[in-house]
Amino acid sequence: MKIGLLESRLDPFINDLQSRLSGLPVEFISFSQQPLPLHTEYGVVVDRLSFLHPFLEEMLKNLALNGAYVINNPFAATATNKMVELRLCGDLGISFPRTVVLPDITAQEELGEILDDLDWQKAVQEVGLPCVIKPYDGSGWKHVYRVNSMEELQGAYEKVKHRHVVLVQQAIDYKDYFRVFCIGKRDVLFIKWVPRPLAMGEYLPCDPKELGAMEDSLTRQTIQLNKSLDLDVNAVEWCLDREGRAWLIEAFNEVPDIDKRSIPQPYYDWIVEKFAGLVKQKFYSTETNRTILGLTGRQP
Ligand SMILES: Nc1ncnc2c1ncn2[C@@H]1O[C@H](COP(=O)(O)OP(=O)(O)O)[C@@H](O)[C@H]1O
Ligand SMILES: [Mg+2]
Repeated sequence: MKIGLLESRLDPFINDLQSRLSGLPVEFISFSQQPLPLHTEYGVVVDRLSFLHPFLEEMLKNLALNGAYVINNPFAATATNKMVELRLCGDLGISFPRTVVLPDITAQEELGEILDDLDWQKAVQEVGLPCVIKPYDGSGWKHVYRVNSMEELQGAYEKVKHRHVVLVQQAIDYKDYFRVFCIGKRDVLFIKWVPRPLAMGEYLPCDPKELGAMEDSLTRQTIQLNKSLDLDVNAVEWCLDREGRAWLIEAFNEVPDIDKRSIPQPYYDWIVEKFAGLVKQKFYSTETNRTILGLTGRQP
């Protein structure tokens, strides 16, 4: 059995991970024409690429069904989106911004009969102004707009309305923002982050003790979220508002950016070490993650 890496060979993180796995049979995966069922030579697969293409997503589901332990579970990874995360937060008692869901433009055209007309007044009353509008399946801050008026909101909707589902959300006025890495549904690392678009966000050292009692509750809730959606690797985004209340902004970055140049070295080393530990643990176990979802939590 081997460990397969699905990532560019030039990626610094995957090279550091590979160094930490020295002595084990590790190789980069490439897919030639594969007969189904796919070969099962992989005991563990580290997936850092499949989110880019449906072909890779389906190949990884097949590897998982054939017994490879895929990090992350490809069934869970393809099920995440910003609506699922809010629903899970509701189940787990986690605070998230008030949110209204709007249909995309094709839904309005094709499902007219079963969709009410958009009621902008109601949406704004519900979430307040300023608010944030974003697609349910976005990443990397693409198509996320903060708006101050109904007119700006409608203008921003024009830009995102071709995405399937659009969320309009109460804007949290945050004083601190954290990217919280969670590995193996157990190990949690708080890194302060200054969010900026186009991967320009800045990581800052922080002492989680500053969070006081909240360190424990945010740690517990971060782990619960990852257990609920069966994600072994994830970065959860939390913020603290001016009153010190914690809000969840984004629950699932299931292929988190692990940028060696911007993450302070001790944090980067922690991530590489915990990630390698996870891969080794799965390699020596007989565990598989061919299950569809392990959603838990309060039933409706
Ligand atoms: N409800 C909100 N209140 C305040 N800021 C928000 C809110 N939603 C998103 N943002 C800002 O927009 C950024 C991108 O939004 P996010 O939901 O994380 O989407 P993406 O998947 O594109 O990263 C966040 O890092 C945060 O700075
Ligand atoms: Mg984000």
